[in-house]
Amino acid sequence: MFYNLFKPIAFAMDAEKVHDLTISILSKNGHWGSFLGVSESNTNFNLKVGNRTWSFPIGLAAGLDKNAQCYDFFDNLGFGAVEVGTVTPLAQTGNPKPRLFRYPKEESLRNCMGFNNLGSDFMFETVSRLPQYKEQRPTPLGVNIGKNKVTPDEIAHEDYRFLYEKFKGLADYIVVNVSSPNTPGLREHQSRDGLEMILKSLERREGDVDLFVKISPDMNIESLPDVIEVAKKYHVTGIIGTNTTIMEDRGVGGISGKLLFDKARVMRKKCLELTKEAGLEFIGVGGFSSFEEILEYWKDGGRAVQIYSAFIFQGPDLLKDIEHKTKELMDFHGVSTFEELLERLQEG
Ligand SMILES: Cc1cc2nc3c(=O)[nH]c(=O)nc-3n(C[C@H](O)[C@H](O)[C@H](O)COP(=O)(O)O)c2cc1C
Repeated sequence: MFYNLFKPIAFAMDAEKVHDLTISILSKNGHWGSFLGVSESNTNFNLKVGNRTWSFPIGLAAGLDKNAQCYDFFDNLGFGAVEVGTVTPLAQTGNPKPRLFRYPKEESLRNCMGFNNLGSDFMFETVSRLPQYKEQRPTPLGVNIGKNKVTPDEIAHEDYRFLYEKFKGLADYIVVNVSSPNTPGLREHQSRDGLEMILKSLERREGDVDLFVKISPDMNIESLPDVIEVAKKYHVTGIIGTNTTIMEDRGVGGISGKLLFDKARVMRKKCLELTKEAGLEFIGVGGFSSFEEILEYWKDGGRAVQIYSAFIFQGPDLLKDIEHKTKELMDFHGVSTFEELLERLQEG
């Protein structure tokens, strides 16, 4: 209801300006989430992802709250996890504007932001100030990390190591982002050697904070087994797939939303198969815009989901719709927990 009033005004304005304005307002009004979102009694949705439990199977994807200013709002809204960032060691302004475009009819976005963010010191301060953190925090906080544009690729791993060390005590999970199309050379770090260099430098041990690697839908699917093997070798918790896709006919940057769905779906299916074999977690993201698409993903063996673009086009009603239809399905199958529902769906 509220979103239906807000959306026409917001969509009449420049996409990035309205984004920045909204973030600034929501950062001071986190409690608004409570009356706009899904109900508070979602405990039967509890879904174990790594070492944490999501109270709802839908999380917020990275890039909407780049500087972790609105965790309270998205938490109150009912997202099962909130991923902030991408944060880089030093603040950077990103690519020249305009760099965020809407395709309303196709419920899609194109962005060439280039990791604009206020830097790791700012985020550290913000995240440290969250009232409940780590053990007491009900909704997991993911921190998505990336390299500064000026950092040469040969030493990119130093940026990741620096950020991992800085946030591992504060975040519930960390995401190594090597899949944004808007930082030149970044996607090269998805290669076996590139990824190994980064993950090795983190010197992870079993029991460390959960760690995910976020991959691109444009990656050669043949090289996915290499990514999984390296992830396994360095005690990574799981894979997040996918980031935005390049569609040259649309212009520079990464496409998200409905236009991304088919490509991301192919990558996710392969990821589900390989992560299952390897005993790794998988979080599905990329183009989800309805309960029906998510249901199909659950039937394919998927569990946790993240969304970004569909939330921009449909607002909190999308979360409510997913909550409502999932509850109906639980009743239909006569199960009392979401994990049981997944078992039923995956039995066929
Ligand atoms: C404007 C915008 C900025 C984004 N910034 C980031 C980012 O900083 N880091 C990241 O890992 N993903 C980023 N993403 C990608 C999303 O997290 C997500 O993977 C992608 O949009 C696909 O999901 P969707 O179709 O639900 O939007 C961004 C997406 C958009 C639209």
